Amino acid sequence: MRRALSFQSPTLHRVATPVRVVPELADRGVGEVLVNAEDLQRRVRELGEQISIDYAGRPLLLVGVLKGAVFFLSDLMRFIGIPVEIDFMAVASYGSATDSSGVVRILKDLDAAIEGRDVLIVEDIVDSGLTLQYLLRNLGSRNPRTLEVCALLVKPERRKVDLPTRYVGFEIADRFVVGYGLDYAERYRNLPFVAALEK
Ligand code: IMP
Ligand code: MG
Repeated sequence: MRRALSFQSPTLHRVATPVRVVPELADRGVGEVLVNAEDLQRRVRELGEQISIDYAGRPLLLVGVLKGAVFFLSDLMRFIGIPVEIDFMAVASYGSATDSSGVVRILKDLDAAIEGRDVLIVEDIVDSGLTLQYLLRNLGSRNPRTLEVCALLVKPERRKVDLPTRYVGFEIADRFVVGYGLDYAERYRNLPFVAALEK
């Protein structure tokens, strides 16, 4: 006799309890939490809903800037209720660990052409703005229909160039921050909040 397949895997399907990261943080150089996980989710949801309204009827292409924007982009697109595609670019900015120079090199280019498309660049953070200025020029020269920017964080005090950032998650003070995708020497991206790095 054949039995219907039943899916019973209570251990696998149980919702995991949040990872406790806080007790060890002091040893790892992580300071004050500037944006907590709850505020991140709330704001990312608002941005996704606004983008869905603004781009209604226009198939949207999100261009994530690797690696830091991956976390923001994947949360953001879950709150976008219109057809959306994603592509990625990786760039390296020459400079010190905490200051970019504006001289940018493409490590990975987009997979597909963007001519005639509605393109939204998704960035983790705009600091001096030099990296974004390069991206806007480079992608702009490929003749997209529209080209806009959605940045999770901006540091207004550090801005060297004036750029159109249509969507901004949070304005923060002039501190070097880590978490929710942002790194210092490739570490701390996994923190579920944005915190200042203690030097
Ligand atoms: P910008 O060219 O000075 O605007 O710097 C942009 C890039 O530098 C971002 O995409 C980040 O990768 C990195 N960056 C700038 N500020 C921070 C920070 O506070 N924490 C981590 N990365 C940062
Ligand atoms: Mg970085």
